[in-house]
Amino acid sequence: MAEQRIAIVTGGNRGIGLEISRQLAGLGIKVILGSRDAARGVAAAGELAAAGLPVEARQLDVSSAKSISECMSWVRRDVGRLDILVNNAGIMIEEGDADPLEELEMIRETMQTNVYGPFLLSRLATPIMKSRRYGRIVNLSSGMGSLIEMGAGYIAYRLSKGGINIVTRVIAAETEGMGILVNSVDPGWVRTAMGGQGATRSVEKGAETAVWLATLPDNGPTGSFFRDRKPIAW
Ligand SMILES: NC(=O)c1ccc[n+]([C@@H]2O[C@H](COP(=O)([O-])OP(=O)(O)OC[C@H]3O[C@@H](n4cnc5c(N)ncnc54)[C@H](OP(=O)(O)O)[C@@H]3O)[C@@H](O)[C@H]2O)c1
Repeated sequence: MAEQRIAIVTGGNRGIGLEISRQLAGLGIKVILGSRDAARGVAAAGELAAAGLPVEARQLDVSSAKSISECMSWVRRDVGRLDILVNNAGIMIEEGDADPLEELEMIRETMQTNVYGPFLLSRLATPIMKSRRYGRIVNLSSGMGSLIEMGAGYIAYRLSKGGINIVTRVIAAETEGMGILVNSVDPGWVRTAMGGQGATRSVEKGAETAVWLATLPDNGPTGSFFRDRKPIAW
């Protein structure tokens, strides 16, 4: 029997991250469900585990370098492998009529969670992946970070999703030929707390392309941006 793959999904306690966790675990992959709130993570993982899925909760606040370092030390030491990293956790702060200084603070806070955390996780994950010459990194981006779709408003969120796309490109270039595939995904407009109830997509549909990228075959693409399993422009 093939060895069981191990995935980390950040922000796995609700929304698209919870659904990605459910779908990956449904494929027999052991999911470490990251949640910044330990109790909410245990509750979410418990529901999936009760349905017979291989899921375990782990406290992981992606805005904290300390929390990320502790989690990845545990992975290196106690788990011993990491095959898949899904950088799903993200925030979109309502900007309203914030003044420029408040706006700058929102940008800092958003970059911390949506870009710097995923960057550090990727940096710590790739040596573990390299040791087995297998890795899949999936970064949850958005059409709002796409240069060709760029519009007014949401400057913090747009900067962060443009930023995560750069993380995708750089880490993909640095890991080329090592069995590690790194891609960005736009899940579309999804009915979650962030997307709102008026969104056009279910969480199942929103998770689908991320799960596909997390389980690409060895000859799959790297350094690209996808929506509905098709490449889109940056
Ligand atoms: N929904 C959409 O239409 C849409 C469209 C394009 C892209 N996306 C992207 O898809 C991803 C998931 O979005 P979603 O719609 O599922 O959002 P959501 O329903 O608001 O859920 C966000 C998740 O991220 C977690 N999170 C936030 N800050 C965190 C931190 N510092 N550390 C760890 N976890 C943290 C939240 O945890 P708590 O429960 O603790 O708050 C929650 O689990 C995001 O990256 C988002 O930008 C969403």
